[in-house]
Amino acid sequence: MFIFDVEKQLFMSKLVSGFSKFSKEEKINWVATNFFTDVDEGIETLNQYVNSNKKLQQLHDEFIENTISNFYIPYAIAPNFIINGKPFAIPMAIEESSVVAAASLVAKFWSTRGGFHAEVISTKKVGQVHFMYKGDYDILKEFFNEMKSNLINATNSITSNMRKRGGGILDIEFKDITSRLENYYQLHVTFETVDSMGANFINSCLEAIAKTFKEEATDSLKEEIKIVMSILSNYVPECLVRAEVSCKIEDFFEEDAEYYAQKFVEAVAIANVEPYRAVTHNKGIMNGIDAVVLATGNDFRAIAAGAHAFASKSGTYKSLTNAKIENGIFYFWIEIPLSLGTVGGLTKLHPLAKLSLEILQNPSASELMQIVAVAGLAQNFAALKALTTGGIQQGHMKMHLMNILNQLEANVHEKEIITKNFENTTISHDAIAKALHIMRTEK
Ligand code: MEV
Repeated sequence: MFIFDVEKQLFMSKLVSGFSKFSKEEKINWVATNFFTDVDEGIETLNQYVNSNKKLQQLHDEFIENTISNFYIPYAIAPNFIINGKPFAIPMAIEESSVVAAASLVAKFWSTRGGFHAEVISTKKVGQVHFMYKGDYDILKEFFNEMKSNLINATNSITSNMRKRGGGILDIEFKDITSRLENYYQLHVTFETVDSMGANFINSCLEAIAKTFKEEATDSLKEEIKIVMSILSNYVPECLVRAEVSCKIEDFFEEDAEYYAQKFVEAVAIANVEPYRAVTHNKGIMNGIDAVVLATGNDFRAIAAGAHAFASKSGTYKSLTNAKIENGIFYFWIEIPLSLGTVGGLTKLHPLAKLSLEILQNPSASELMQIVAVAGLAQNFAALKALTTGGIQQGHMKMHLMNILNQLEANVHEKEIITKNFENTTISHDAIAKALHIMRTEK
């Protein structure tokens, strides 16, 4: 593999054993000496992002393994959302320039048109014990039927608190999946986890169920049942929320309202038949969803995985939103599975997540589902409105202008002048660089 020894040495120096046992300083030094172009500058950058409050920094250090600093992204507020008649200021954690601005504009737009309406359709979560079995189907099925209540009882100590809060195991189904994979069966378990996302709760229950299922089998069954794994599913089509806006077509736009409302509906229809467009369309929705999910300390990867799977439930990847015009009324809505928590996980542990929930007036998980769905719908509305009118770049580049100016190391004065000069002019990296160059050389 290596022609020269020096190549081998370089390769080996970039591998390490026992890294997690290093002190934080040793970890930083190892990364710095092996990977940084400028060691001092790199270490200084890492240190700049370390919190001066030692207790707070330790909290962050202990969220994960091998922490060497913090990675900031902006935390912002999109105000003026009215959801089911109640006002909300929505906290969002996101790096993309135009997302919060778009959400704020859309919130204001709909606040004078009746606001957003949202309802939770269902809150069921799913977990599965996956196992292989080569023996007789009827014997296995009978064993399951006899064991079902024992399996539920095996989780009693884990579920007692959850049951007090109104949750717990809803059902355990035995599933024969051998038509899709030889010898493959499942215990498909449904849960109500109330205000928690419930990942740890579900996984603990599943492991207890799997253990009892195997342990209490007769000797011959025990030999034939091979538990492969026990894990929750992030596909939660029955943990579903719907959010909607509607208004008279003439309230849609000041001019040519019908034409633009129709174009908007067509844009959604395109995303419903064209996966290339649907993915970008849904990405825009996730801009809003993920930002609130992250700000509230929820698991945005789980939400994204579940949402995209739901978008494919028909066999074709489609839009998560829909739109129609009926009897002169424009309707726009989203249905999306959202498994969220307002207790447990990082929600109360991360000080900013806790604060986000406070800003949202300490919602239940169901209320948070509604707020997050609204943020997704709002984001999609902003994108489609821009795309079907002046185009996306006008607004996007306006918001991106500050990033360009920062890249070009513009000072406060230069930023002020350029922002003013480009108010009604097309923004591009080149155009801004030229304008700055002229300003600097004319001085
Ligand atoms: C950009 O982050 C999101 C959009 O591309 C979404 C869309 O095209 O609908 C603007």
